Amino acid sequence: MRTPLVVGNWKMNGSLSDNLSLLQKLTSQWQAAAVEMAVCPPAVYLAQAQALLAGTSIQLGAQDASQHSSGAYTGECSVAMLQEFGCQFVIIGHSERRQYHAESDQLVAEKCLAIKASGLTPIVCVGESLAEREGGATLAVIQRQVQAVLDHVGSEQLAGVVIAYEPIWAIGTGLTASPEQAQEVHAAIRQQLQALGASTRILYGGSVKAGNAKELFAMADIDGALVGGASLIAEDFLAIGTAAAQ
Ligand code: 13P
Repeated sequence: MRTPLVVGNWKMNGSLSDNLSLLQKLTSQWQAAAVEMAVCPPAVYLAQAQALLAGTSIQLGAQDASQHSSGAYTGECSVAMLQEFGCQFVIIGHSERRQYHAESDQLVAEKCLAIKASGLTPIVCVGESLAEREGGATLAVIQRQVQAVLDHVGSEQLAGVVIAYEPIWAIGTGLTASPEQAQEVHAAIRQQLQALGASTRILYGGSVKAGNAKELFAMADIDGALVGGASLIAEDFLAIGTAAAQ
C-alpha cells in the first residue's frame, strides 16, 4: 500500500507575506489524513515555512541540494542544512535545473545518494522533451535517467525514494499528459525498479490542476503529484490533495 503524496514545488515564487497567507490557509484547512502533503518553498523561506508548519501534518521539502557535505561551493545548500530547517523531502533533477543549470544524470544521482545517506527523501524528477516524445524516445529517455540513479545509489539504498515523472512539454504549459500517457511511463518506471518498484511512490507532474487530478490519480501507478503553479493557490492545492485521498 503506497500512501499518496502531493508535493507543491513553489519554484522561484513567494514572499514573506504571500507565504504566510498560503501556509496559514493550507494548515488550517488541510484535513485528509490518508494523503501526505508537502510544500517546497525557495531555500530562503525554509525557516519561515518550518515555523509555520510546526505541529501540522503538512511536511516541508527543498527544491535542490548540493551533492557535497560542506565547503567552498558558493550558492549551494547542503543536505544537513536543509535537515536543520525541518526538510523531509528534497526535489532533485527537475527539468528546469537540468536545462538551466546543466545538471547531468550523474550529478542527479550523486545528489540522490547524498540525500539518502542523510535519511531524507529524494524526489527524483525525470521527463522527456516534446522532441523526444515525438521522436518515440520517451521510454528510452526515462529509462536512462532512472538507471543513472539506480546504478549510482544501488537499489537497496534507494528504498523510500520518490520518483516524479514530469514530461517537460507539460510543465507550466497547460498541456497535461493524458492519464494513459502518464500511466504508461509510470508502469515502465515501476518495472525498471524491479523489487523496489512495488513500494516506490511515483508522482506525476506537469500542469496538474484541481480539474484533472482525479483522473490522473485513478491510474494504477500514479501515487500522487508534484504540483507547480496550482500549489501557489491554497484552494487548488487543497483540492488536489483531497482528490488524492479518494
Ligand atoms: P506546473 O504544475 O506549473 O506545470 O509545474 C510542474 C512542475 O514542474 C512541478 O515540479
